[in-house]
Amino acid sequence: MGLGMSAAIFLGGPAALKAARASTATASPLLGFKSIPTSIDDALHLPHGYSAQIFAPWGTPLLDNAPPWKPDATDDAAAQATQVGDNHDGMHFFALKGSHDEGLLVINHEYSTLTKVDYQWLFGRGGTLPWTADKALKAMNAHGVSVMHIKRLAEGQWEIVQESSYNRRITASTPMALTGPAAGNSLLKTSADPSGTRVLGTFNNCGNGWTPWGTYLACEENFNFYFGSTPPTSTPTTAQQRYGLPTDRSYFRWDDFNPRFNYAKEPNEPNRFGWIVEIDPFNPASAPKKRTALGRFAHENAAHTFTKDGRIVIYMGDDHRDDYLYKFVSRDRYIAGGDNSQLLDHGQLYVARFNADNPSKDFAGDGEWLLLDKSKNPILAAHPGFADQAEVLIYTRLAADAVGATPMDRPEWVSVHPQTGEVYVTLTNNNKRQKAGPANPRADNIYGQIVRWCEAGGDAGATAFEWDIFVLAGNPVKHTDRKDLRSGSDNITPDNMFNSPDGLAFDAFGRLWIQTDGKYSNSGDYEGQGNNQMLCANPASGEIRRFLVGPKECEITGLTFTPDHRTLFVNVQHPGETGNSNWPNGGNAIPRSATVIITKDDGGIIGT
Ligand code: FEO
Ligand code: CA
Ligand code: CA
Repeated sequence: MGLGMSAAIFLGGPAALKAARASTATASPLLGFKSIPTSIDDALHLPHGYSAQIFAPWGTPLLDNAPPWKPDATDDAAAQATQVGDNHDGMHFFALKGSHDEGLLVINHEYSTLTKVDYQWLFGRGGTLPWTADKALKAMNAHGVSVMHIKRLAEGQWEIVQESSYNRRITASTPMALTGPAAGNSLLKTSADPSGTRVLGTFNNCGNGWTPWGTYLACEENFNFYFGSTPPTSTPTTAQQRYGLPTDRSYFRWDDFNPRFNYAKEPNEPNRFGWIVEIDPFNPASAPKKRTALGRFAHENAAHTFTKDGRIVIYMGDDHRDDYLYKFVSRDRYIAGGDNSQLLDHGQLYVARFNADNPSKDFAGDGEWLLLDKSKNPILAAHPGFADQAEVLIYTRLAADAVGATPMDRPEWVSVHPQTGEVYVTLTNNNKRQKAGPANPRADNIYGQIVRWCEAGGDAGATAFEWDIFVLAGNPVKHTDRKDLRSGSDNITPDNMFNSPDGLAFDAFGRLWIQTDGKYSNSGDYEGQGNNQMLCANPASGEIRRFLVGPKECEITGLTFTPDHRTLFVNVQHPGETGNSNWPNGGNAIPRSATVIITKDDGGIIGT
């Protein structure tokens, strides 16, 4: 399996892909900025001609009467409930009346950084113990979502519109509803909710999505780490094991004060997490809705497009080693300006199988979408493990195992090319992979890759697709033999190399923005790769340039634009996750996750 691969990947992919790409390979270059070198200092770096404003770091006052954040991070739970949450991740800018200067910025707060024994920063330096009910509540309040009404001032800086009724914090305690085919199922009932339809809170919201009808999708990822068993269990069920529930105390320790997080007492509470949560940011009184039709797993993000007949399609990755890629296709059509509030409650869920690649085509092949429907898929119909469709949705991973889905190298964000309809997914890495497989060509894959596919007939509702690999991340400095897959594909060079692609999004012009959550040791296999970063690719030519490098020990994640694409929002998550950063305040300050708002000094479109 030599690396004649790279040329073939970019020049000789399946015919449908080639045709689609040719139509977007225009004369005017997509990428107009000069690629920047990697860096390892505690600072944010951008190309020449770009500037950034640090915005809404963890603890920023958001709601009425919110106190200023205390620089020693000793704010209590009540204060945190009114302030911006921790560890910013996926986000979306909802323009108000089409404005480029005012809108609702909605941000996920994925988690709060933990060391083996402590929260790293949430309670200040070394402040975790004694562990109290108020600290557990503060941690719960640092999770969830912020809805921020923001506005650009005349001099160009952005600020939160204080006392706006749109400003909202959603936390691990906010009342929300379970909707769709699994709502009310006995596996979702608890002592606090005998109806199986009412849940408190959302957490570990990683990537995100948004809908054309103006709602936000918060994706529940590693929910398992918030549950524990006291006393420790030696007999977790098959499903509890498959979803990774710890067999003793939880990592986040909320279970010490909240019995609902002890699954020895409330075995069904974990079943109420791992969903896509739809939030209406324009209606602060609305209860968020967990849409069970979209399946339950470690949701990364949710990328939408439409079938040829106008139904909505949502692509979703399950970020877990050897887990799967999914798509939801709605039953009903989207109605512009109409009532789409039930659209995500009815439809079909599919999981991807990537068929063996043909070595002569060099990492390209076909694949199919396998239907996860109890009555329509004969494998599931005959399977004793699922009583009905609700159980297929609650135990999505087990259903996908049963139908023969393809184990992937940790599917992260998915994004749909706005002109060609091709779909791209980041597969971040997989150190547990034993042998190469279709679309996952390296065992012990430490660098990750981006795979793309084209739906049959160009219809996102199709059940067949053609795939190839857009980029194999790698390190051509450490692994100089370009036939060694660890050197990366041809579009990886010593000047643009990176590891562990995670965040991924197309802009409206078809630029592909890539964000990393990888190893930042800058040594060994990662020599010369520096801190985590954001890159931008031309999907037609394969060219990749580095656009941004973050401060120490951070991840770069989440991106959204104003409608005119002259303002870009990006998140810097967990700077100093193991203790070594003071970003953004500098000096001896406690580091804080924050949004950065990026503009081009000449007022131009970002990336040009
Ligand atoms: Fe929260 Fe898969 O990154
Ligand atoms: Ca992520
Ligand atoms: Ca991540």
